[in-house]
Amino acid sequence: MADEVRAGLEARPLPFLPSKYFYDERGGALFDEITRLPEYYLTRTEEALLPAVAREAVARVRPRNLVELGSGVGGKVRVLLDAMEEAGTLESCTLLDISESAIANSLSQLRSERPRLKASGVVGDFLTDLRAVGPGESRLIAFLGSTIGNIHPQDVPAFFRSAAAILAPGDAVLVGLDLVKDRARLEAAYNDARGVTAEFNRNILQVMNARLGADFDPAAFDHVAFYDPDHAWIEMRLRARRALDVRVPGAATALSLPAGGEIRTEISCKYTRAALEAALSGTGLMLNEWRTDPESLFALALLRRLGRS
Ligand code: AVJ
Repeated sequence: MADEVRAGLEARPLPFLPSKYFYDERGGALFDEITRLPEYYLTRTEEALLPAVAREAVARVRPRNLVELGSGVGGKVRVLLDAMEEAGTLESCTLLDISESAIANSLSQLRSERPRLKASGVVGDFLTDLRAVGPGESRLIAFLGSTIGNIHPQDVPAFFRSAAAILAPGDAVLVGLDLVKDRARLEAAYNDARGVTAEFNRNILQVMNARLGADFDPAAFDHVAFYDPDHAWIEMRLRARRALDVRVPGAATALSLPAGGEIRTEISCKYTRAALEAALSGTGLMLNEWRTDPESLFALALLRRLGRS
């Protein structure tokens, strides 16, 4: 963490913080609140698509083992487990998340609901720690909620290759993607009227204070979120209301910002089917199924690991 934060805060022209550090306990709770905001269409749209898509994916892949990446505190994994149970294939479930407390809570709940399920957790980063899940077969990887949007487009093919590396031929990845749409709709989802997203954004500074002994004053920053059509991503930033000097002893660095100076805290990439297919090229995964809601706000894509040739 220290190395990543130092690299981010020393980056110029735009310092950044890795968005995985939003998710301490308060950040997880704030994100949970975001998922229920009227402007934040992503979660409810995916949830409406998921039961039918899960059944269809399970019928095709017949997975015995579910791996959920970035599972957080949500209960989406249950929909997939139900589909696997109904099909009579369910054996095990592995959760990978950056938050140890989110994994611990989800695991204890899963174990009490399904005592016969083999459930395990990996605390880690889906970009660097997929190998810790180990190889397996008859596996379905679930990467839901548009979490893939946080991966820089340049890094997405490598991510898909690392997912393919822990799958057997015919196994699958189910990925939830937020879709390119009109700017007003996108920007409203990241600038909610109640200011929950602004609080979520500023919370990353509290995480830096708590974990690295930094002295950020979150109240000195404004929330900024805008759509960048050239990159097809929403970008979130924190903008200093006044000139600030911040010390971050736990990362052996410091940051000086002029009034109006910004820190990037998140990119949230928006996809098209064509952009997904381009990112899959040469990775060992191919697009097998693409499902969207009637308004084409959000997509669930089933990717299959190619067979040995
Ligand atoms: C959890 C990464 C999918 O990008 O929409 C919500 C995080 N940021 N509001 C997203 C988020 C601001 C969210 N993901």
